[in-house]
Amino acid sequence: MSGPALLKKHSHAAIHEVAINEAVELLDLLAACLERKEPEKAWKVALVLVEHWETRTLRHVEAEEEGLYKKLVEDHPELKDEVTALIRDHQLMRKTVAKIKNMLREQHVSKEMFRAFAALVEIDLLHNEAEEALLME
Ligand SMILES: [Fe+2]
Ligand SMILES: [Fe+2]
Repeated sequence: MSGPALLKKHSHAAIHEVAINEAVELLDLLAACLERKEPEKAWKVALVLVEHWETRTLRHVEAEEEGLYKKLVEDHPELKDEVTALIRDHQLMRKTVAKIKNMLREQHVSKEMFRAFAALVEIDLLHNEAEEALLME
């Protein structure tokens, strides 16, 4: 998930799509568990979701900051502001995941936790769109 694959719009977008689709599927499952009033199942899904965001997206964004973004700004200094905005999106995702992890201490899925998971999806979708726009075909 690093190096040249991230520089190409097509392969990078494919990485985004797989991760976001999985997150949306899990979020839908979480919503269904909450609707059916199955708190134990909801709890298990929430744990899988947190792990998903940490191991997929947060690792992906780390690799971008270490490699892709540096290369983008080096090659195209005019993109500096756009890249700074993308890093800010990453920070929002990290903060939201940290907030969810904190809420996990309550040992149940609260409405607030669900909203935070849903927010992550929306931030990520907008972020991916902006990021892909900076990449070459
Ligand atoms: Fe990113
Ligand atoms: Fe990305």
